Amino acid sequence: MTIRPTAPQDVLAARRLISIDDLSSADIDYILDLAEHYAGYLNRSDPAPKRLAGKTQVNLFFEDSTRTNLSFELAGKKLGADVINVPVAASSVHKGESQVDTAQTMAAMAADVMVVRAKEEGLHYELDEVLPCAVVNGGAGAKEHPTQALLDAAAIRSEFGSLESLVIAICGDIKHSRVAGSNVRLFKRLGAEIRFVGPDHFMPDGDQFTDIPRIDNLKDGLGGADIAMGLRVQFERMGDEAGDAARGFFETFGLTHETIKLAKPGARIMHPGPMNRGVEIDGALADDKELSLILRQVFYGVPTRMACLDALLTRGE
Ligand code: NCD
Repeated sequence: MTIRPTAPQDVLAARRLISIDDLSSADIDYILDLAEHYAGYLNRSDPAPKRLAGKTQVNLFFEDSTRTNLSFELAGKKLGADVINVPVAASSVHKGESQVDTAQTMAAMAADVMVVRAKEEGLHYELDEVLPCAVVNGGAGAKEHPTQALLDAAAIRSEFGSLESLVIAICGDIKHSRVAGSNVRLFKRLGAEIRFVGPDHFMPDGDQFTDIPRIDNLKDGLGGADIAMGLRVQFERMGDEAGDAARGFFETFGLTHETIKLAKPGARIMHPGPMNRGVEIDGALADDKELSLILRQVFYGVPTRMACLDALLTRGE
């Protein structure tokens, strides 16, 4: 059993988790160590200390979610919080209530933290201004998904020990991926070397991530990589071009048992889910228990979110 890590002074001074930039380096180390500590409780099926007893956590997801929503729910419950999921589809949003009004209504029920997923990139900052509770980003537009990046880092640490000097190839539809955005921000700070691999039309705009190499073929893109991270082709963000964008993608950029041989021997496969099998990744590779960390990522979603909620609401006390 790992020893509970000690929180750094003024942990999560930003009092919110909207972007990786809200975290100091000490916060990141603390959250990852605390995630590993909580992973121990889950692995042993031991009850975790109820450090959030009496706190109210509201999950307000304006966009679909399986992993993120459910693991935030489990995380809060494991720590003893009262957790509610707002049934957005059946809520007053459909009577024309604005997202901010819905959030303010939920916050008025004495919420201590609100986990929000939104299509818009600015909504979390707007909510942070007006809500009396802490705001956590459960996914914002195509820009940030900080807890996914933290859980990915926790999964990588569990396999490789650290991210220092690892070569991580982020492959596929980077342009529309909030996971890629947060992962680049976090992984660079943890000492990894990142590259983007995919066709031109899936690359971020030219003025973004200018320091990350962009490689338009798997041979060079996976060469020397310790990790190949596939991203979902996000058809719903593309409109009419969706069909064209994905045509021939699997043949050229699909991650398979064959193409992963281009990476370092022993390289691992990751994917934040949900996957399009046969589009960005072959099902047999995704299911390969030796090479795939995909379900490990899902597992780390719970202890990592426990660590984030704990750091934010108890401030390490
Ligand atoms: C991602 C998301 O919803 O941002 N999934 C996740 O949270 N695990 C990625 C995606 O939608 O493709």
